[in-house]
Amino acid sequence: MTLSSRIDLAYSHTALTTRDRGRLTELISEWQLVSDLSFADLILWVPRRKDYQSWPEGHIAIAHIRPTTAPTVFAHDVIGKELSWGENGRIDQTLSTGLIIRDAEPEMLGDILIKEETVPVHFEGQTIAVISRHRNAVAMRSASPLEINYREIAHKVFRMIAEGTFPIQDSIYQAEYAPRVGDGLVRLDAAGSVTYASPNARSAISRLGWDSEFEGAQLGAIFDSLQRNQSTPSEENWATVLSGKTLRRADFDNGNGIVDLLVIPLIEAGERIGSIVLVHDVTELRRRDRALVSKDATIREIHHRVKNNLQTVSALLRLQSRRVEDPIASAALAEAVRRVASIAIVHETLSTSSAESVLFDEVYDRIVHNAIELSPRPITPVKIGDFGILDSQVATPLALVVTELIHNSLEHGLADGGDTVRVEVSRSETTYTIRVIDNGVGLPDDFDWHKSSNLGLQIVRTLTENELKGTISLSRIDDETVALIIFKI
Ligand SMILES: Nc1ncnc2c1ncn2[C@@H]1O[C@H](COP(=O)(O)OP(=O)(O)O)[C@@H](O)[C@H]1O
Ligand SMILES: [Mg+2]
Repeated sequence: MTLSSRIDLAYSHTALTTRDRGRLTELISEWQLVSDLSFADLILWVPRRKDYQSWPEGHIAIAHIRPTTAPTVFAHDVIGKELSWGENGRIDQTLSTGLIIRDAEPEMLGDILIKEETVPVHFEGQTIAVISRHRNAVAMRSASPLEINYREIAHKVFRMIAEGTFPIQDSIYQAEYAPRVGDGLVRLDAAGSVTYASPNARSAISRLGWDSEFEGAQLGAIFDSLQRNQSTPSEENWATVLSGKTLRRADFDNGNGIVDLLVIPLIEAGERIGSIVLVHDVTELRRRDRALVSKDATIREIHHRVKNNLQTVSALLRLQSRRVEDPIASAALAEAVRRVASIAIVHETLSTSSAESVLFDEVYDRIVHNAIELSPRPITPVKIGDFGILDSQVATPLALVVTELIHNSLEHGLADGGDTVRVEVSRSETTYTIRVIDNGVGLPDDFDWHKSSNLGLQIVRTLTENELKGTISLSRIDDETVALIIFKI
């Protein structure tokens, strides 16, 4: 059973409303923060009962999160686990009283000594669920300033959950790659002054250029001063962003480095009591992103220019073909125009995509469009199958090969009689098979593939063998002329 169907099944034993479930979903998407701050596994228990008024028969676990700051205490999966009423007094009591239960005696779970605490989840005047938190009691004894601070903050956030003020509405923590506790944490008092900064937060802010004390300083003032060193004025007033009054997420970039900041206010009994600011040094991450974006843009620009140059070449050839008097020479130049145009199509398609590969079906559609335009018999080939995505190295020769074959079918095959051209494509794990088929007159009797001095099939053969490392054959099968190309991917 998938996780979501297990959760749905678990919910089916409860009397929670859709709004309650929505609230719990919000909580579950934000509670990594509290798990990390309290170095604890968290389990969310919802009461098992038939309707809101009825006495719960027990509880069922609908979610579990492990801390990223400490080892988990549960190796196994607890979602779906059921407890009868009376089996766990703390969870029962927290559900019925709506009170946090702390300072319980540690108990053995397997061979680890575990301390369990329970926190009610309050929503719209009700206790709708209970969080049990479990942490290794032995590991807790050696408390560093970091651990003490994290745990104090965790207690405040748990109180917010019990009072129904966490997660904060319209929360943004969930946003992708939001900073985490382990990335760096600064704790602020209600006035916005730093009371604690974790080692990672210190390194991140030092890198931006701060070399003085953290404790006691206004975090907003620190960032404003770091910003002022820069020539471009910022639109953001960092004193406001980092006051801790509202939930905020912002990138700070002063040339020395870039940090991703997440400000979470702490509230108790309706009063703002301080805030935490998660600080993630994203300098390398953002620079890499930018480098990638610009490399991408460069490649696209190059394809765009190649396309433009090819179009110029094609225009020049067209001009020349009109000027030469000899009809054979003129036709030859016209063919060259068509060939150059096919290559230009590949580059044009590459210039609009970000990858070094193209959806060849797009290229194909445009090649066909061109072929029909120039053809004495404007018949649209029927396509069976899809080309899919192809590397640009394959796309250019293949575009030429397909152009020539379609052109031959239209020009020679259907010259007297016949009315269809079919392009069949199939792709296996390793091999591409392409057939260009027409129901026209067929190859001339004296046709010799190797002696043919005409350029079209020469190009087809050279490109298929040398560039695509494949094979080409021409044959008459029933009433159809079939050009068959096979190459490996
Ligand atoms: N689908 C086809 N049906 C009939 N004849 C074909 C077909 N494809 C190629 N041929 C024959 O092969 C010859 C060589 O083709 P190609 O090398 O493309 O040169 P060109 O198209 O310039 O004549 C053509 O002149 C034609 O006689
Ligand atoms: Mg030809």
